[in-house]
Amino acid sequence: MAKGLFRTKSIQELMSQADDKQHGLKRSLNALNLTTLGVGAIIGAGIFVLTGQAAAQHAGPAIVLSFVISATACVLAGFCYAEFASLIPIAGSAYTYSYATLGEFFAWIIGWDLILEYLFAASTVSVGWSGYMVSFLKDYNIVIPIEYTNSLGTKLINLPGEGWKVLTHDLAQTLTAGGMDLSVMQQTTAIANLPAVFIVGLLTVLLVIGIKESATFNNVMVIVKVAIIIVFIIAGAFFISKANWHPFIPQNKGGFGEFGLTGILRAASVIFFAYIGFDAVSTAAQEAKNPQRDMPKGILGSLGISTVLYILVALVLTGIVSYKELNVPDPVAVGVNQMGEKMFWLRPIVKIAALAGLSSVILVMMLGQPRIFFSMAQDGLLPPVFAKVHPRFRTPYVSTIVTGVVAMILAAVLPLNVLGHLVSIGTLFAFAIVCISVLVLRKTRPDLKRPFKTPWVPFVPIAGALVCIIQMAALPVDTWLRLLGWLVLGLIIYFSYGRWHSKQRMESNG
Ligand code: ALA
Repeated sequence: MAKGLFRTKSIQELMSQADDKQHGLKRSLNALNLTTLGVGAIIGAGIFVLTGQAAAQHAGPAIVLSFVISATACVLAGFCYAEFASLIPIAGSAYTYSYATLGEFFAWIIGWDLILEYLFAASTVSVGWSGYMVSFLKDYNIVIPIEYTNSLGTKLINLPGEGWKVLTHDLAQTLTAGGMDLSVMQQTTAIANLPAVFIVGLLTVLLVIGIKESATFNNVMVIVKVAIIIVFIIAGAFFISKANWHPFIPQNKGGFGEFGLTGILRAASVIFFAYIGFDAVSTAAQEAKNPQRDMPKGILGSLGISTVLYILVALVLTGIVSYKELNVPDPVAVGVNQMGEKMFWLRPIVKIAALAGLSSVILVMMLGQPRIFFSMAQDGLLPPVFAKVHPRFRTPYVSTIVTGVVAMILAAVLPLNVLGHLVSIGTLFAFAIVCISVLVLRKTRPDLKRPFKTPWVPFVPIAGALVCIIQMAALPVDTWLRLLGWLVLGLIIYFSYGRWHSKQRMESNG
């Protein structure tokens, strides 16, 4: 029984699945599409929301170094993904790679864990999208009632002269310290984050209609966000005041992560979120025209482009605004404000870039998730309905709709911070396993012809796995408990369904 748990799936078997012309996915993506898919998944809430907070609270202008550190960690994992994605171009990504190397049990754990990365990231980013949308509409005097733009149960308070606000812990403390009696003020709780539900719903429909249509939409969003980011970098360069970069590494304030060197490290783990998504390229492997050649290009190319843009945005942003003023949800917009009245035209444009950026992240995450479900169902670990491909659209429509509906519910009811940490821990776990799997397969199948080889093995995979594990260790205990709870739930499902329906098991028994 235990042996069956760790039975691996041969590369030949995996490949024969990928070439099912009748029931398979449609091969229509080239290297450029794959790279834009990667950039689509990567550039989003990380740069448009988290950079400012990480600079203001942890690293100051040295956030630039945090971006370099985080990128280095991701490149190590990126090499490992590139090796696998060109060798086993199957939609299941890390799930499939661990099936081929560590066996079914680990494959299931990783497949289940990837839900935290993909599905939860889609919900997290849709909450960020909602924030930018509300602010964009407000500039044009369109106001959506606050009960419908926050997660279920969020406390709201009606402040004299200011109207309804979210009652955060910090706000409550400031108000009370200022002598206000909160109990006499009108309070209520939010019902659901409807703009977040709306965007997830809209993108689900697009994803059901077609991979080509989705890729085209993604291309447009990527062009918009990258073009506007470049405009911001060039325009901003003229407004840099070098005084803002001094000191480049603000002195540590005493605690771990409060500026200084430890601050740079803490900020690196916060903005790790900004790099998540390059691996989503690997979930489109079964829809790539020439995966052996183009997968590494898509994965490493998108990671490279995003890294360069992030470093430049971080340099410009901390050059035009003092990092102390960046503790806001829309740091790039604050940067534009600082450029003066002449540059006000850029304000709505930056918000459009953020909306485009966040939309493409949600889209690609929701494109990845059903494809992982698709692979798991093809292996019998999930019910066959998850592997159903629409006869006309050739998309895994049932799993896309299930993903969309669950992501909508999460987006409606869960707050951003709970979701965000879960996404990071889930992703780091998958990255670590992929790095380790490269080593395992090099040992067990040294003979395989690898179209792309991770350089400096074993250094790169070992360093990649270690960096991910260290970053996981730095996350709060609560997040670890949630991860464990999630994995236990996954194991219950595996032992009550997947284990008994696994095609591997049936074939070996029959
Ligand atoms: N990297 C993606 C983002 O920053 C998840 O939104």
